[in-house]
Amino acid sequence: METISVSKIVYTSFLLASIVAATAFVNGGNELHFQTYIVRMDKSLMPSSFATHSHWYASTLASTIGVESNGRLKDSFLHVYDVAFEGFAARMTVDQTKALEKLPGFIAMFPDTVRQLHTTHSPEFLHLNPSQGIWPQADYGSDVIVGVFDTGVWPESRSFGDNGMAPVPSRWKGQCVSGPGFKASMCNRKLVGARIFSSGYEAFSGPINETAEYKSPRDSDGHGTHTASTAAGNYVFNASLLGYGEGTAQGMAPKARVAVYKVCWQSGCFDSDILAAFDQAVADGVDVISLSVGGGVMPYSLDSIAVGAFGAMARGIFVSCSAGNSGPGDLSVSNVAPWIATVGASTMDRAFPANVILGDSSVYAGVSLYSGKPLPEAAPLIYAGDAGINNSDASSSRLCLAGSLDPSLVRGRIVLCDRGNNARVEKGSVVLAASGVGMILANAATDGEGLIADSHLLPATAVGFQAGNSIRTFIRSSTSKQSPPTGTIRFYGTKLGVAPAPVVASFSSRGLNPETPEILKPDLIAPGVNILAAWTGAIGPTGLATDQRKVEFNIISGTSMACPHVSGLAALLKAAHPQWSPAAIKSALMTSASLIDNTAHVMSDESTGNLSTPLDYGAGEVNPEQALDPGLIYDLNEDDYIGFLCGLNYSTKAIRLITRKSFSCKKKAFLPGNLNYPSFSAVLDQSSSPVLTTTLSRTVTNVGDPSSVYTAEIIAPAGMQISVKPEKLVFADLHQKLSYSLTIVADRLKLLPGDSETEFGFLTWSDGSHQVQSPIVVTRQQAF
Ligand SMILES: *[C@@H]1O[C@H](CO)[C@@H](O)[C@H](O)[C@H]1NC(C)=O
Ligand SMILES: *[C@@H]1O[C@H](CO)[C@@H](O)[C@H](O)[C@H]1NC(C)=O
Ligand SMILES: *[C@@H]1O[C@H](CO)[C@@H](O)[C@H](O)[C@H]1NC(C)=O
Ligand SMILES: *[C@@H]1O[C@H](CO)[C@@H](O)[C@H](O)[C@H]1NC(C)=O
Ligand SMILES: *[C@@H]1O[C@H](CO)[C@@H](O)[C@H](O)[C@H]1NC(C)=O
Repeated sequence: METISVSKIVYTSFLLASIVAATAFVNGGNELHFQTYIVRMDKSLMPSSFATHSHWYASTLASTIGVESNGRLKDSFLHVYDVAFEGFAARMTVDQTKALEKLPGFIAMFPDTVRQLHTTHSPEFLHLNPSQGIWPQADYGSDVIVGVFDTGVWPESRSFGDNGMAPVPSRWKGQCVSGPGFKASMCNRKLVGARIFSSGYEAFSGPINETAEYKSPRDSDGHGTHTASTAAGNYVFNASLLGYGEGTAQGMAPKARVAVYKVCWQSGCFDSDILAAFDQAVADGVDVISLSVGGGVMPYSLDSIAVGAFGAMARGIFVSCSAGNSGPGDLSVSNVAPWIATVGASTMDRAFPANVILGDSSVYAGVSLYSGKPLPEAAPLIYAGDAGINNSDASSSRLCLAGSLDPSLVRGRIVLCDRGNNARVEKGSVVLAASGVGMILANAATDGEGLIADSHLLPATAVGFQAGNSIRTFIRSSTSKQSPPTGTIRFYGTKLGVAPAPVVASFSSRGLNPETPEILKPDLIAPGVNILAAWTGAIGPTGLATDQRKVEFNIISGTSMACPHVSGLAALLKAAHPQWSPAAIKSALMTSASLIDNTAHVMSDESTGNLSTPLDYGAGEVNPEQALDPGLIYDLNEDDYIGFLCGLNYSTKAIRLITRKSFSCKKKAFLPGNLNYPSFSAVLDQSSSPVLTTTLSRTVTNVGDPSSVYTAEIIAPAGMQISVKPEKLVFADLHQKLSYSLTIVADRLKLLPGDSETEFGFLTWSDGSHQVQSPIVVTRQQAF
């Protein structure tokens, strides 16, 4: 789950290497390794003797694993897929998979892997307006159904109330399933679907622990309730978290319908279950799928989210995913398939300041969502690294790990803890348990200056890396036990109009795209820091077992929170332009995105304070009112993506794993960079040719004024010439398509073997009223 750690394990590890879901099964002394495989079958080869594909799959599986073919395949058969994907998921040994490969209809398979999960000021911040523009034009998304793949939903939340909602669109085929703590009758005109997918999870982790979570659509975690209400929550007046962020809560598409597909459980979200949810959601008739979950980057044919999303895209469903919280390092972005909208996170102009004031009157800016009694004017301070139970073990005490602090040193003091390792809010509870009165949480160098506010259980604030160093030096400079250094934390509540904003969040994962550098990722950014949205009633806002507070709304951060903003906005665009393909919707969102913050400068990067680049923000910050009327779109269909996969030299088998379509790769090589994408990323290899140049082609479709003339404007980086041909596009009709080519010629750089340098430019097509903007990313590299 891609939230910036509110609790425990689940939220901290974002770029997990794929953990293969394997368990050992002991059988008469021989260890048989069972593993879950997702198997792609060619349905067209089903012998007519089978009534349904399920019977056929069952028979196929039975003949490999040697059980009776009456469909009772014990625990082996986990899911049957039929819509977004064709095939099944099953537990098999390696020997069994070998037998399976020989059977008719078998195309390919890949092992199951586990993923981790990666509010409401954002409508105002994004200039959504109830009296004009995209909200009223889209009827607030009323006819659109948003599928949210996550931890389920808290149905009693007022965000899922159906007051003011029209009847559910009659085409909807989904349903709500009952289970512990959840009755199908809890669904209504807002919450129109609620299903669970746990077979893959249980095959690996054992039965769901029903003491800890509900084996039903009910959300015991909060993440799913939060993301669903961010995309499509109904209006709730007087929403706040313990008084913070007070106002009206509403989703991006406040009248859109929500269908929840619970795919994430306590220790993660399994590919086989995610794929089953894709299959079901497509069959149910969702229009948009929101998936704030991510894992490692791998070839598209092995990436279930990419494969499931392809099936959804082929049915006209828009899929948006979180980019990951592994920033600010390069190449950290995930969910990078070109048919997915990959969403990074930005800040808004709202903050929750809580400053540190030291005994020498110096002030350090911090943020906090603490709500309770304030601290005294001056309390003694201590650095956790000097307060360990065993002084020789400063490495765990400085991080405030459980049980590492010595109460005799900490009692009555404000403790400075270093960030890292355990959850931020857990550090607070460790200080509290050791009788500390407050906490200052200092960023590690890798966190930079990006701050995340938490609803700590004790008076606490988060400060940047530099401030942390200064405070640590101050505390350690006074060694006197009689008069220790003092300080306090002052809480200022909610502050609006903060500048600069938006800023690219430190944690937001960055490009280049590690899988296909010719496709720029992330695609765009949206608010993902300090987002207020609905919460579960099962746990408190910190998610800690010791947190007895119950809140209706919570404020959390992560690309998980950015993704549903784009899902909700896509729902609005879908309602306003029902004919638009998923690629057209994404193009509209990207070419209209903004690069400018509220101080009229290019957005900065929270991790450095420096200017950000397209590697950080893709095409920019979503700008929904402009996206409604983008002028031109870069459209794409299934065949275009197949051409792209051919261009990546994917095998026939790998391509068929992703797409059901029969196809043959054209002889003439298709350059991946020629995919009709709304952004450009060129990789120039200095060692392969004396002249560094490339020409990329694009086709734009006119969705603005029927007769219009667009002129190209180019910003090229120093040492490069970028030109387009033709420089004018003259349209006479609506939906007319015109093509152009973009040529980049770059000077040679002095680079060491293995080094590369990335530079940025922009292309904007303008007809006077529409600005259709694309980032151009050019990487020069020197081979080893
Ligand atoms: C199930 O969850 C409860 C509550 O979190 C915990 O106390 C118990 O140990 C768990 N049981 C298993 C088998 O993990
Ligand atoms: C919001 O809360 C305030 C007090 O907290 C109350 O006076 C007001 O009536 C509430 N408004 C609504 C619409 O519930
Ligand atoms: C303190 O740490 C040292 C080194 O790790 C270890 O040898 C010693 O047993 C520890 N003492 C206590 C009281 O934990
Ligand atoms: C920020 O920009 C300055 C000036 O270009 C540069 O010297 C510095 O290295 C940059 N900082 C980081 C962290 O990239
Ligand atoms: C695909 O294969 C062709 C021919 O071997 C080669 O020229 C091209 O660079 C390859 N493309 C990629 C993306 O690897």
